[in-house]
Amino acid sequence: MKRSSLFTEFSVLLIALIAIALSILAISAHAAPADSDNKRDTELLTARDTPAIVKHGKKTYRDLCQSCHGDEKVTGDAVSNLFDSKWYHGARPAEIERSTLDGFLEKGMPAWKDALPPEDTTAVVAYLLTFQKR
Ligand code: HEC
Repeated sequence: MKRSSLFTEFSVLLIALIAIALSILAISAHAAPADSDNKRDTELLTARDTPAIVKHGKKTYRDLCQSCHGDEKVTGDAVSNLFDSKWYHGARPAEIERSTLDGFLEKGMPAWKDALPPEDTTAVVAYLLTFQKR
């Protein structure tokens, strides 16, 4: 085999390997957020099924959220109603948590990530999840 054709074969192989490596990277980068959301969904649903956490969340809600979002009896399809099954910014537990953490400043929803300790965030989302259909 001539030296040049060996070189060509080697480069083709190399390019193929790089392409495979890049597609694996692309797939895993794409899958990563969904995987961590799945894990977080499970954790939050477990918290929802833990009465002590829900109780703590109810108190957090009353202290910090009720002034804007109303109490449990609030009805009607408003973006600020957190007790119905309609979610405008994502219905998954991890998405409800993200809405809480990041807020929607331009709409008047504060970002709670710097104010709330993580266990309070978990608890308040767990409390909200108790109103959702299972
Ligand atoms: C100062 C008023 C205010 C307070 C306090 C507040 N919120 Fe909000 N929140 C809003 C507003 C307004 C919206 C609607 C944003 C929009 O129009 O997109 C909202 C939206 C949300 C959403 C998204 C609802 C959806 O349909 O997707 C979640 C979740 C949420 N708030 C959780 C909380 C939690 C938890 C607390 C307490 C820790 C809290 N909020 C405290 C004003 C507030």
